[in-house]
Amino acid sequence: MQFIYNYKLFNQGLQINFMDQNFLSNTSSRKDEHLKICIENDVKYENVSTGFNNYIMMPNLLTKISPEDIDLSTTFLGKSMDSPLLIAGMTGGTEKGKAMNKIIAKICAEYNIGMGIGSQRAAIENPSLIDSFQVRDIAESIPLLANLGIAQFTSGYSVKEAEQAIEMINADGLAIHINPLQEFIQYDGNKNLANVQQNLIDLVGESKSPIIVKGVGTGFSNEDMKFLSSLNVAAIDLAGAGGTNWKKIEIFRNPSLTNLSTSLINWGIPTADCLVNAVGVISDSSKKIIASGGIWNGTDAVKALMLGADYVAFALPALLAISKDSEEGLRKFINNYIFEMKIVLTMLGITNLEELRKKKNLLMRKTPH
Ligand SMILES: Cc1cc2nc3c(=O)[nH]c(=O)nc-3n(C[C@H](O)[C@H](O)[C@H](O)COP(=O)(O)O)c2cc1C
Repeated sequence: MQFIYNYKLFNQGLQINFMDQNFLSNTSSRKDEHLKICIENDVKYENVSTGFNNYIMMPNLLTKISPEDIDLSTTFLGKSMDSPLLIAGMTGGTEKGKAMNKIIAKICAEYNIGMGIGSQRAAIENPSLIDSFQVRDIAESIPLLANLGIAQFTSGYSVKEAEQAIEMINADGLAIHINPLQEFIQYDGNKNLANVQQNLIDLVGESKSPIIVKGVGTGFSNEDMKFLSSLNVAAIDLAGAGGTNWKKIEIFRNPSLTNLSTSLINWGIPTADCLVNAVGVISDSSKKIIASGGIWNGTDAVKALMLGADYVAFALPALLAISKDSEEGLRKFINNYIFEMKIVLTMLGITNLEELRKKKNLLMRKTPH
């Protein structure tokens, strides 16, 4: 309840002048602004679905198993997880971000699933913000991902800051988010991304810790995935289109962008298509595929796993669950998500993730009528 109360205060007390450059350019205020925009507005894609509705799973009415038989356990970055799920990185750097990270960490520890935190750039710039990202005391044994943007590396960060981010939260790996479209339309975005490939080669080559490369909701092209799979990355988090749309979030931050066409705003590779492409391109099974981008329920999560994802991640659904009913809201959401996964697997007659990988024939692509 404390968190909801904070949000009420937040909403009443913060008058955002969208043209106030100082406010908008401050790294941590911008993170709170993102939370507020996502809670108060529809920031999802319009007329672009994740593509999972193009697939049907074959229900097995004569199933011989029951939901209690289902074992969703797996491992990630050397840590065991009870379900192949992660809450993707969103926040930190402010009091609200700190409260939210603590709620997420508590629930992830309860369900023994993975967690990412939001970009730690604010804490690298201002160490007094470090504690808003630290959750290890709450979630001692879950896979925990640090987070920085590639745009920081194209403008000067090196493996030194990468290690700083990992050590800051005692993480198991570092997620590097890549969001050029957002940077290009953001008036205060970093437009100098020319060295992005070399920066990734250097970072992955020099880092002693696992590096996860992630999108933020536009999906990676085949060319991108070929390049990424040539690097020694631990995982690629697809963040395809159909869920959170960062072009829309940027428009809420800067109304002068309303002139952008709906074609550009809704441009992205639907998550399911992006996943099928990734499975075709990434042949090395040690490079894990995290499916994300609009995977709002356990049924679509099982489809993603059947299409070849190793893990499923989501961000906005967790934020909205928390804004609705704080810790209890997130607990209910995760509980239902896992319940749904178990029901679906029971109906498919599949008891664990290893079996699931062998039974891809239970998933059919719908034929267009
Ligand atoms: C409020 C909010 C803040 C986010 N901040 C970050 C961030 O700091 N770093 C990052 O890598 N991704 C960030 N993301 C992107 C998510 O991690 C995720 O990749 C994306 O939202 C797609 O998943 P979804 O459709 O389930 O939300 C953020 C998402 C939301 C909703």
